[in-house]
Amino acid sequence: MIDLHCHLLPNIDDGSCSWEESLDMVRMAHDDGIKAIVTTPHWIEGTNWQPETGVVRDMVLEMNQRIEDAGIDFKVFPGMEVGITADLTGLIDRDRILTLAEGDFLLLEVPFHSIPLGITEIISQLSSINKQTVLAHPERNRELQHKPKNIMEYVDAGALIQVTAGSLAGEFGQNARRCAIDFAKMDALDFVSTDAHSVRYRKPIVSEGLKALEKAVGKDKVNSVINASYGVVNLSRQS
Ligand SMILES: [Fe+2]
Repeated sequence: MIDLHCHLLPNIDDGSCSWEESLDMVRMAHDDGIKAIVTTPHWIEGTNWQPETGVVRDMVLEMNQRIEDAGIDFKVFPGMEVGITADLTGLIDRDRILTLAEGDFLLLEVPFHSIPLGITEIISQLSSINKQTVLAHPERNRELQHKPKNIMEYVDAGALIQVTAGSLAGEFGQNARRCAIDFAKMDALDFVSTDAHSVRYRKPIVSEGLKALEKAVGKDKVNSVINASYGVVNLSRQS
């Protein structure tokens, strides 16, 4: 499994607070069977969370060096969790935001309360430049929790769905858990990621979520989300 959503880099958003904590998060992920992490600091227009792409790339290089020095067989790739805003294609074009592992998938943050208009448009704009939208944790959105079927509008428009492992494990309440399972039953669940922020809470652990997914819909779905994560990152590529 590759974790495609994780706030691993220190002091760049509300994730890890130090390089030591980041390394501890890597150890924890590694012990849980995760092979690599795409680190996804928040990038939100109009806030202090708009890290420069070059800074993220440099920090990923440093992280990988520290991992190597610690003798851990593990790899980190650059990415971002991008807040909904206009002109995402222009932001990609001007190297202001990063796709997952600098490949063909953009992780787009879904807010927790209402759903902003225009997501379907964003999905098609991105696909016009051959980028596929990955919606981050839609199972934690109140509107979708009430009407899980509405996720199909975005799936039909071409989005992939990333559910948080902790949602499946029940860490975000029954509504998020039920919604995540409903998505899986509708075949609207492509990736399970940790969205980890630290070693103390929201940890880089995926196994509990995968166990819950297997119990609800069977082993095949678990295998398919594991395989799908490898489709996003070329593990042999150097970063
Ligand atoms: Fe996140």
